[in-house]
Amino acid sequence: MPSVEKTPWGDAPEGPVSRFTLTNTAGDTVSILNYGGIVQSIVVGGKEMVLGCDELAGYLAPNPGYGAIIGRYANRIADARFTLQGVSYSLVPNENGNQLHGGPEGFAGKLWSPEPFTEDAAAGVHLHLRSPDGDMGYPGTLDVMVTYTWNDASELRIDYRATSDKDTVLNLTNHTYFNLGDEPTVLGHLLRIDADRFTPVDAQGIPTGELLPVADTPFDFRTAKRIGRDIDAKHPQVRGANGFDHNFAVTNYDGTLREVALVTEPDSGRRLRTLTTEPGVQLFTTTFPTGKYRMRGDAPTPTYGGICLETQHFPDAPNQDNFTTPVLKVGETFNSTTIYRFE
Ligand code: BGC
Repeated sequence: MPSVEKTPWGDAPEGPVSRFTLTNTAGDTVSILNYGGIVQSIVVGGKEMVLGCDELAGYLAPNPGYGAIIGRYANRIADARFTLQGVSYSLVPNENGNQLHGGPEGFAGKLWSPEPFTEDAAAGVHLHLRSPDGDMGYPGTLDVMVTYTWNDASELRIDYRATSDKDTVLNLTNHTYFNLGDEPTVLGHLLRIDADRFTPVDAQGIPTGELLPVADTPFDFRTAKRIGRDIDAKHPQVRGANGFDHNFAVTNYDGTLREVALVTEPDSGRRLRTLTTEPGVQLFTTTFPTGKYRMRGDAPTPTYGGICLETQHFPDAPNQDNFTTPVLKVGETFNSTTIYRFE
């Protein structure tokens, strides 16, 4: 029978933190913190599948968003401003005058109200957050519910729901770094992404607005290839990012929940499938220098140490005519689902 175990996990500035360990019938576990809604650990077949920290202090220290819920707007908003329905909004910037991942006090550092549950073949936790009107510059009091469900098929399902009392923009994702192997990097992992176009970026990581075909570029993951194969390519977009830090546009997107990516670790045969209702996937190959951040065992996080598949609407969409902006209107419910399935 699936179960949930709650463990005290230290104190964040806003209050005490709990860890919820979801165990499925096979004994595989997912551990979630109510701090940042962080996926702190996923252990399948005895193997830790995600980067993260052993203690809360690691998450309170500067870190690259290990496992966290990202909001209100995943990735970047240029010049930390946007216009919605003729009204312009100034956001709190936190990177080169732009806003990244919802700003300096984004959802990744909030204390969420947890409500654990079990079902016949799954265990989970609901996390609720009320983000006040004007939070980090965004309009509307936002009620967000993120539900993590871990089932007997070793699927981690993330359901995002939200309502707002003013029309607003909203783009939620999860920032888990996966490493399915026993090596320090993911360069040997095989990756398939069902995307025929990607959104090139400028030197600050802001999309240029173009949607370029992946064909004949290092961004073509339509047939599985080693993540490391083209990571040293001379392509200016790869060099500019020191690897992959780009949003991929799902082929024939129709809003239904379907598979968009497959990661395979060839030595062990471990696999991770990503299913989503979202139109984009930000591929981030942990491009920062080794030692910029630390992780479990106080070890330096290696360059290319993990892979993020951040399901989302496109970065900076509110400022890009070419991209669909995810607008949440009063009286409507924001709905988004992503599943990470381990095999
Ligand atoms: C962004 C990167 C950023 C990383 C850590 C990713 O989602 O695309 O540019 O460095 O998150 O915040």
